[in-house]
Amino acid sequence: MPRKIAAGNWKMNGTTASLAELFAIAAAHQDPKVDILICPPATLLARITDAGAIALGGQDCHVNTTGAHTGDISAVMLADAGATFCLTGHSERRTDHGEDNATVAAKSLAAHAAGLTAVICIGETLAEREAGETLAVLSAQIAGSVPAEATAQNTVIAYEPVWAIGTGLVPSTDQIAEAHAHIRAELSDKDIPLLYGGSVKASNAAEIFAVPNVDGALVGGASLRAADFSPIITALENA
Ligand code: PGA
Repeated sequence: MPRKIAAGNWKMNGTTASLAELFAIAAAHQDPKVDILICPPATLLARITDAGAIALGGQDCHVNTTGAHTGDISAVMLADAGATFCLTGHSERRTDHGEDNATVAAKSLAAHAAGLTAVICIGETLAEREAGETLAVLSAQIAGSVPAEATAQNTVIAYEPVWAIGTGLVPSTDQIAEAHAHIRAELSDKDIPLLYGGSVKASNAAEIFAVPNVDGALVGGASLRAADFSPIITALENA
């Protein structure tokens, strides 16, 4: 059975005051029945010395370990700062920074080499869904951005329809079920956890977690405050 993971992606949000939210989540979930992951901005990640049962992750890493890459952060540096996970291939990186599947695969390998679990993000755009290309897009993204050596020990897949991220739009449970079944079938290690991401909130979490092959969620906006994220963690524990 894949492990269950409630993951939060803070994106470019969070200053010193936000650490109180992370510590409130840790205090409310000291002995969780699922894995909890928060990916804060790197400026905060490096300052967190005790997150309790919460695992920490980076939001992106460079393909190289060190070097002349101004503004970038390597997977080794994230691990040194306390991360055990790293997101790769988030749609905002693919769009804002032109990251293609080959880059995402290289970043995922860099994360693995540093001992991090890569949370590899895939998902179709609205135009691709409307053209009936969703499953083909997912297959191409898996083939191109998930390294062949990916296992349940070093990899998590997050299915995040681009049109559902930050929009309040959520696919139907049938659409989520279809995508997750397809992704599961494409992966050689069937125990790789599959997270759904895109406008997950406390009010829809239980319904989403009841969908077959959904092992958790990657949550953006609703992970920023303990009052929003804590019920999502509890919903996964009860799923
Ligand atoms: P959202 O973001 O929950 O704010 O839609 C999800 C994500 O981008 O991981």
